[in-house]
Amino acid sequence: MKLFSTETYINRRNALKNALGSGQILILGNNESPMNYTDNTYRFRQDSNFLYFFGISLPGLAALIDIDKNEEIIFGHEYTIDDIIWIGRQEPLHVLANKVGVATVLEPEKLATKISPAVMYLPPYRHDNKILLSNLLPISLDQLAPSESLTKAVINLRMHKAPEEIAEMEKAVNITREMHLAAMRATKGGKYEYEAVAKILETMHRHHAELSYPVIFSVNGQTLHNHYHGNRMEAGQLALNDSGCETDMCYAGDITRTFPVSGKFSETQKEIYTAVLDMLESSTALLKPGLMYRDVHINANRILLGHLKNIGLVHGDTEEMLAAGVGGLFMPHGLGHNIGLDVHDMEDLGENLVGYREGLARSTQLGLRSLRMARELETGNVITVEPGCYFIPELIEKYKAEGIFKEYVNYAQLEAYYDFGGVRIEDNVLITDTGHRVLGERIAKTIAEVEAVMAGGF
Ligand code: GLY
Ligand code: MN
Ligand code: MN
Repeated sequence: MKLFSTETYINRRNALKNALGSGQILILGNNESPMNYTDNTYRFRQDSNFLYFFGISLPGLAALIDIDKNEEIIFGHEYTIDDIIWIGRQEPLHVLANKVGVATVLEPEKLATKISPAVMYLPPYRHDNKILLSNLLPISLDQLAPSESLTKAVINLRMHKAPEEIAEMEKAVNITREMHLAAMRATKGGKYEYEAVAKILETMHRHHAELSYPVIFSVNGQTLHNHYHGNRMEAGQLALNDSGCETDMCYAGDITRTFPVSGKFSETQKEIYTAVLDMLESSTALLKPGLMYRDVHINANRILLGHLKNIGLVHGDTEEMLAAGVGGLFMPHGLGHNIGLDVHDMEDLGENLVGYREGLARSTQLGLRSLRMARELETGNVITVEPGCYFIPELIEKYKAEGIFKEYVNYAQLEAYYDFGGVRIEDNVLITDTGHRVLGERIAKTIAEVEAVMAGGF
């Protein structure tokens, strides 16, 4: 099992203890998750908070930090000979615990005797852990009350990535880069989407990595999270590939590229692609500590509307359109989110606690309301920048029928785009003291670069 240095975990826990001052903290690991019967399980994925503070990627663990007693305990079973018959010799739990700086390992049954009713815990997202908490405390499921001060302290730590985490994320992006290049090369007219997806998965597995989220690969890129891979790809269509891996230490990459099935962009595709690339590059260029990411999202919409106006799909004053939220019709999602151990980092802890703050409320406008990261950027944040432009016939038809934005949108011209699909381009970006750094080696993104990859150029 790959772990950071012992000091890394000790320092993370000390920082958490210092932030909270006193009390008991319970961090629950994840359990195996049965697919169709107990012994046939989904891939085990440890809870990210447990990984962050205790590193051990094994099912059935819990950890207790008692700040006042200066005690740290991991609860879990040691392997029995029966386990070893089935899964082979393993590093004992107490040896792993020692590697993450925890001297005491107790059987899970002891947990109930150690926790106080005031124990702090994070919002559980798995039913089995909700039931465990309900039994332990003991309170009914609807009385579970995760600690907001613990949640905020954990978010504050995990929002600021340390150099060893950034190195892992860079590794994830570089493997993801290969997955994307393989997908571009596997795409041509007459092939099926699943054939390109097979290349994505093969490339990933060759690096002993796993998916950080289910692959989104589709010629229907206008469907934001399209997990159907059964379409035959035809020359003239665009393929959108939003896929990423997590390393064996569970740090994620999340990259999107969009490319023409034929290997050559049409003039219409070039216009929209150029708009999205401009949104990506202009947004990225702005990134630095202190800048509110909501403003970057809004500015990306400004750029999009400028391009759409030049193309003749909207008309009117850009600032007026921006204020009215016209951009949301074409990009009904946020510009990006935090990324780290989770692809949408810490979404289990609460989207608003992660991406918003006091005095910064979430918008109700289509597009802006889906922005997961709105607050000021800080050194050590890693965020995605993922502008897009989509033509969703059902949405356009609905807005047209309801007369929404009729003073700005050239609905008649949009009909020619009903089979266009969508373009999204996504990078992962670290905020540094002086600005930003796009993680990983460059992944083909200009029109010339994408066409060169598809022609077998590099
Ligand atoms: N891969 C999902 C997203 O881009 O947020
Ligand atoms: Mn993505
Ligand atoms: Mn993303």
